[in-house]
Amino acid sequence: MKVSRRALMVGASAATWALALPLRRSFSDSEIKEHRLTAKPAVVNLTGNGYPDTAVWAYDGTVPGPELRVRQGERVRVVVSNKLSEDTTVHWHGIRLPNAMDGVPGLTQQPIRPGGSFAYEFTPPDAGTFWYHPHADTLRQLGRGLAGGFIIEESEPIAVDRDLLWFIEDWRLDDEGRIAPGFGNRMEAGMSGRIGNTVTINGRVPDRVSVKAGERVRLRIINAALARILSLRFEGHRPVVVAHDGQPCEPYMPEGGRLVLGPAMRADLIIDLNGKPGQTYRVSDDFYHDLAYRLDDLAYAPGKPTREHPPEAPPSLPVNPLPEPDLATAERHEVALQGGMMGGMGMTGSGGMMGGMGMTGIGGTTWAMNGMSMTGDGQPGMAPLVTLKRGQTCVLALRNETAWWHPMHLHGHSFRVISRNGKPNPRREWRDTVLVPPREAIEIAFVADNPGDWMFHCHVTDHQETGMMATIRIS
Ligand code: C2O
Ligand code: CU
Repeated sequence: MKVSRRALMVGASAATWALALPLRRSFSDSEIKEHRLTAKPAVVNLTGNGYPDTAVWAYDGTVPGPELRVRQGERVRVVVSNKLSEDTTVHWHGIRLPNAMDGVPGLTQQPIRPGGSFAYEFTPPDAGTFWYHPHADTLRQLGRGLAGGFIIEESEPIAVDRDLLWFIEDWRLDDEGRIAPGFGNRMEAGMSGRIGNTVTINGRVPDRVSVKAGERVRLRIINAALARILSLRFEGHRPVVVAHDGQPCEPYMPEGGRLVLGPAMRADLIIDLNGKPGQTYRVSDDFYHDLAYRLDDLAYAPGKPTREHPPEAPPSLPVNPLPEPDLATAERHEVALQGGMMGGMGMTGSGGMMGGMGMTGIGGTTWAMNGMSMTGDGQPGMAPLVTLKRGQTCVLALRNETAWWHPMHLHGHSFRVISRNGKPNPRREWRDTVLVPPREAIEIAFVADNPGDWMFHCHVTDHQETGMMATIRIS
């Protein structure tokens, strides 16, 4: 895989991407907030002045789509219109909502046909950093730009000087700035998925972010890439993680200052900007060892810090109303992640559909969970991977038998990560997507309190569409 330095380094014109948030308007609690989103083709500039524009598919013509901001517990309606030439849906990633609003075609709703529309309506129970994206032809639709941030505000937010969103996307562009063809390449699907050559923050190849010494910022980071895993380092700074996937955690500094986010994963950071006025500090991503690159720079304005002394340690965010898993009565289900290319194992055929097949099986099958492969947009008729009674605590024991990383996402619920490779996880953080390293085992626990058929799949979109997808039924 070749990453074009030019693509990653362009954007020499100073920070054009928006840092400041729009003013928040206030509204009465009884009012339903209606938003409209139109999925349609558009032309945007991703790589900066002087570089070619890119034809994309986008919500309301912008990349990323409009940032939706609502208050926790407030009813929202989003009317989605489809001006694409193919079916679409919108999935509200991580938001615990009724099954019929979950946006999975064939499973929770009829797809939105070209020219059609669908009104999603729900009341987000949890405050935090979420996002939205299609769940139909996901590899192409997400890969061509359909995605946006969804921020649910606490009724009493913690005090910061600025609340910033970095919506990170990864594109594979050719020299003319066009989105390269080849979505669904079989070889890639059996490996790390479609990793691009151009990383954007809020729709632009970033250059420098202007900051002020002394400020405390809340930085919400969303990895909306199809396949790229990020490992971010903030030179000279000590970010504190206060939430994963929208759910508050005990504030902590990540090990080695390294924040790892697989596709679909989010983190809320508190960063005290205690660098020197006039200095520049690098933010880099070094997940793929020989492909480390500078993501952007924090450029300090000259002049006095806004504060003499750093504020006291960041407070915890207010907790969300999540049901606590009861491990004593939990049902435990083993889930083997299987398939893909090599690593000395070849196909991890443990019987089932995968046994004895080559790298790519029948009908686009490359990956499996417990020997079963749901592919494409899904097959609603397929038997659920796990069936649960409503209110039951469930432990999913994920075992990655493959040579690749898998960010596993459960719809409609957040879960606690309770162990890694047999060792209790001291933080037991809540997530909706957990990154399972090659050959490792992770246990997650959740209360099956939300009835319906819910997707459980890898968020490396190539993996999802070629078999690493299943449903969990709660009745
Ligand atoms: Cu963010 Cu099923 O997806
Ligand atoms: Cu995967």
